[in-house]
Amino acid sequence: MPPADVPGRAPAVPVLAVTGLDVHHGRRRRRRPVLHGVSLTVAPGETLGLIGETGSGKTTLARAVLGLVRPSAGSITLAGEEVSTHGARQWRALRRRGIVQYVFQDPLRSLDPDLTVERSLAEPLLVGGVPRAEAATRIRAVLARVRLEEDLLGRVPGELSGGQRQRAAVARALVTEPRLVILDEPVSALDSAHRVQILRILKELRAAGVALLFISHDLGSVAGSADRIAVLHRGELVESGTARDVITRPRHPYTRLLVGSAPTLRGAPADRAARDALRALLPA
Ligand SMILES: Nc1ncnc2c1ncn2[C@@H]1O[C@H](COP(=O)(O)OP(=O)(O)OP(=O)(O)O)[C@@H](O)[C@H]1O
Ligand SMILES: [Mg+2]
Repeated sequence: MPPADVPGRAPAVPVLAVTGLDVHHGRRRRRRPVLHGVSLTVAPGETLGLIGETGSGKTTLARAVLGLVRPSAGSITLAGEEVSTHGARQWRALRRRGIVQYVFQDPLRSLDPDLTVERSLAEPLLVGGVPRAEAATRIRAVLARVRLEEDLLGRVPGELSGGQRQRAAVARALVTEPRLVILDEPVSALDSAHRVQILRILKELRAAGVALLFISHDLGSVAGSADRIAVLHRGELVESGTARDVITRPRHPYTRLLVGSAPTLRGAPADRAARDALRALLPA
């Protein structure tokens, strides 16, 4: 759980604060708004689940936070530092510090297909100036954390199973000890056994105090690990609240639809069964 603010003490600076974010895609006559007035925060150690249907702008938001697309308005701060106006050089310096890392849906996009797992994990450390011997120790520690065997270190991503690849991508994201990890649909491409494994690792990360922005189109995937849930609909944030409130008392019609139609282990349920199943997933 995120640390509660103590009365009389300054509230913790969010690891991520997005305020009034507008992003457009396309140029000139093709230019159109993709995100409009989006505001959200992730506190240290908190998991925010960001859900929304395909095309609602989730990946665009992640890319804006990572400095891969430039916002047309609004502010983005990472650990208190305004980054929305950063140029390429400032982004390079920020990336070198490894404060924010990411895991994409397709692990082949998070990992360089030509590099062995060991090189992929070592690179961000060596670039950040960590000595080789210390890097080797940290790589082994992070592998244990995601339950990957050390003998996979010499393989390239193409020689791993889908689940192993995604765990390697999570390991690569964790190795710099980031303050925030953005996970964009990290389990969508996985079968249910691997999905459960990754979701368990995410829960452990949350317990260990890593802040997560967990993006998914599937409410069921985020329900079990998110402290709070934000709902994106057609580029606007239509609802946000504690995971429990959003699932048990959805206010916006779109959220109601999501809750009502969430797939469960029992197949396609009626509204009530879906809600009960989601409730069962909520953290105690
Ligand atoms: N580089 C781009 N140029 C032009 N339009 C883009 C670009 N990237 C995304 N879009 C458009 O922006 C909208 C939001 O896309 P985005 O990828 O952020 O959605 P998403 O919520 O991540 O969807 P999904 O669940 O399918 O991953 C879509 O209409 C998409 O076609
Ligand atoms: Mg996406």
